[in-house]
Amino acid sequence: MKQIKEKHSLAMRWCHWVNFPVLTIMIWSGMLIYWGDDEYKFTLFGHTFFKFFPDWFNTFFNIPRRLSEGMAWHFLFMWFFILNGIFYVAYTLISGEWRELAPQKKSFKEAWLVLLHDLHIRKMAPPQNKYNAAQRIAYTAIIIMGIGSAITGVAIYKPVQFYYLVWLCGGYHFARIIHFVLTLGYVFFFVIHIVQVFLAGWKNFSSAITGFEVVETKPAPIIEKKHDEEKS
Ligand code: HEM
Repeated sequence: MKQIKEKHSLAMRWCHWVNFPVLTIMIWSGMLIYWGDDEYKFTLFGHTFFKFFPDWFNTFFNIPRRLSEGMAWHFLFMWFFILNGIFYVAYTLISGEWRELAPQKKSFKEAWLVLLHDLHIRKMAPPQNKYNAAQRIAYTAIIIMGIGSAITGVAIYKPVQFYYLVWLCGGYHFARIIHFVLTLGYVFFFVIHIVQVFLAGWKNFSSAITGFEVVETKPAPIIEKKHDEEKS
């Protein structure tokens, strides 16, 4: 028997799908800004041995000479990123959905078992509710990373006005490094997330759009009452 099971709330789907283009624009515009001061490189005696983004990479993605365009996009879409994030966190807390998302004590141990299962090294996956241990850790980490991007972003945006955020981030330079490293973290998360979504299959993906999943349930056993009564 087939049954429709509600899986994801409208608010969760809304925030997820708004975040996808917004985050993409933040990463892309961030790269246009980074080009303006291509700082992360290894130079010795005037010779650059390693550049984080080599010139061919910048040319391929049409990044050079678009600093002001990058800033315009970045400082417009940061509002959507921050507001969407605040709405999502508030909704998760108020609705109680955080209980399905937050890592539990056992999650850190179980995440290894999930990994071994995903790599086909272990047969059985640990029992789970809506999200498994690895998902709980990853989805909570991404929220913390989002808060980190907002804090470091504001710190380097208005370092004089928000001097206490600069101090909290360990100084302007360190805030900028954290801001950049977090961006690398999103790209890493995105790659793993896409692979996992692909492996979980179409049903799982479509439920992130529609909010429900069609599940097979066993038909309820027919109790032959009359027959049993006759016997006794
Ligand atoms: C997920 C969201 C975000 C991503 C992926 C992101 C990414 C980036 C990247 C890659 C850069 C270039 C890094 C560099 O030049 O060192 C950058 C620069 C910058 N971002 Fe963000 N950012 C995000 C959110 C924010 C927010 C919320 C603000 C808040 C104002 C912000 C403010 C800035 C500023 C001011 C710069 C220029 C830094 C500089 O002068 O070097 N960012 N961002």
